[in-house]
Amino acid sequence: MRTSHSEITSLHQILLFIILSTPWFQLGITQELLIGFSATPDSSISTFQPLLKDPTGNFSLVFLRVNQSQLALAILHFLSSEPVWIAKTSTSVKWSKSTQLIFDGRLTLSDRKAGVFWSTHSNGGDRLLLLNNSNLQIQQKSHIIWQSFDFPSDTLIGNQNFTSTMSLVNGGFSMSLGDDFLGLYASFKPDSNQIYWKHTAMQAKAAIVKGKGSIYARISSNGFLGMYQTEAAPVDVLPFDSFQRTITGIRRLKLESDGNLKGYFWNGSIWVNEFVAITNDCELPSSCGLYSLCEPGKSCSCLDDQKDYDLGECFSPESSNLCADTNGKRDDYWILRRKGVELPYKELMAFEQMGSLDDCESSCERNCSCWGALFNNASGYCYKVDYLINTLVSVGDESKLGYFKVPIVAEKKRLVSVAVGVVILVGAISVFIGVVGYVSYRVWRRKRRGRLNSGFFENGLSPGSYRDLGSSSFGSVELSKS
Ligand SMILES: *[C@@H]1O[C@H](CO)[C@@H](O)[C@H](O)[C@H]1NC(C)=O
Ligand SMILES: *[C@@H]1O[C@H](CO)[C@@H](O)[C@H](O)[C@H]1NC(C)=O
Ligand SMILES: *[C@@H]1O[C@H](CO)[C@@H](O)[C@H](O)[C@H]1NC(C)=O
Ligand SMILES: *[C@@H]1O[C@H](CO)[C@@H](O)[C@H](O)[C@H]1NC(C)=O
Ligand SMILES: *[C@@H]1O[C@H](CO)[C@@H](O)[C@H](O)[C@H]1NC(C)=O
Repeated sequence: MRTSHSEITSLHQILLFIILSTPWFQLGITQELLIGFSATPDSSISTFQPLLKDPTGNFSLVFLRVNQSQLALAILHFLSSEPVWIAKTSTSVKWSKSTQLIFDGRLTLSDRKAGVFWSTHSNGGDRLLLLNNSNLQIQQKSHIIWQSFDFPSDTLIGNQNFTSTMSLVNGGFSMSLGDDFLGLYASFKPDSNQIYWKHTAMQAKAAIVKGKGSIYARISSNGFLGMYQTEAAPVDVLPFDSFQRTITGIRRLKLESDGNLKGYFWNGSIWVNEFVAITNDCELPSSCGLYSLCEPGKSCSCLDDQKDYDLGECFSPESSNLCADTNGKRDDYWILRRKGVELPYKELMAFEQMGSLDDCESSCERNCSCWGALFNNASGYCYKVDYLINTLVSVGDESKLGYFKVPIVAEKKRLVSVAVGVVILVGAISVFIGVVGYVSYRVWRRKRRGRLNSGFFENGLSPGSYRDLGSSSFGSVELSKS
């Protein structure tokens, strides 16, 4: 019996669909990988390719397809396809035949040409397994030599220890522990972090003792995020909505792409949100983008009310030198002032008390690394911002004043290009005039010489132009022959 190629392909696709859309495909996937294992991505898969599962089938280690052509090595919560861990590769990885995952005691993702993207750098492991809490482990005779729980990406799972040496990262946002607090940070400029949310340990059940080690955090099965210094008692309990309710489902805490921190539990069919760190959207570090204003109720506008937020006009992303030249002339930026604005996380920012708005503004104006200042006319507090102005919150209080340096690189460039265009046009016209003049001159000369020697122009101008310029007294018939 003959089967056409297209029938095979569609059968293959149907099978693949069935396999990928039902949990029992997991039955076929192994629960541990041994030395010698290797895998390459299958080009026919459009979602994810399972490599290893945990004993319950709730989690799976996969090649996850991202942005259609790229690959991430991820651990998925299977029923929701939610990634709970992603290997932090050095660069983006292509979903291609040359990409390879190898287990040889260490787990390595590499490409024959591009080299190693990611590796556990562990030595001597004899097996790789995924535990029922999503922790991927490399073991040597049941001794753990590497585990994904020590290298979280943007998510913490119930009972996973988050220590002071770890961080959760999502884009430009991160979460880490301080001496006695948990903080969320935005990296608004390289090598610098602005804290925008802080939860300090209450120390109600136990006090933090100096010198007794760093604190660590963990989601408890009793529905809270606990901070601990020892296992004896938590130094802080940050309750979730399900606090002290019996929940059998998996819990996770995720640093979201907007910088918020959210907690969820799995109720068997969906992730139920049970904790949100920042409940007011305007208090997120960058809810509306650069040089923007957030009004509670979530409407975004530009700080400069001459510009249209919906057209993305608030800011052209070009950096600039913010220093006035020696004459005090400002070439690279202009000053925008706005009343009734404040920083969403001003409580966590350093400030200086100043006598007047002028003092506050001029301390920023003179400083090359200052992009703006916010002054509270009632308290005299002056907050200086040393990174590109991001989202500010609109407040009714007119005594809260904002002073912002707005780079004008884009406009300058446009002027420069207009100037260049004018120069080129003038140049072109000059050249044109020159050529026409030269041609006319030569024609004139030819005319003159032509009278003497009619064969002179053979390799020169076209007969037509000659004819145009010439007169009937010349040998035009003679020239057009050549
Ligand atoms: C995990 O697996 C167990 C056992 O198979 C099942 O009862 C439970 O519903 C699963 N939980 C999730 C979150 O999938
Ligand atoms: C997960 O594994 C641990 C230890 O291996 C076990 O005690 C626990 O009951 C398991 N949980 C589920 C949901 O299977
Ligand atoms: C978390 O840390 C505590 C204390 O060090 C330890 O007893 C526990 O086993 C750790 N949990 C995990 C999942 O590693
Ligand atoms: C300029 O501002 C930066 C950031 O606000 C600050 O660290 C620095 O000390 C200031 N420099 C001067 C000379 O005031
Ligand atoms: C700031 O406060 C002073 C007095 O405290 C007042 O005279 C001044 O008008 C206020 N300025 C603004 C811009 O609100």
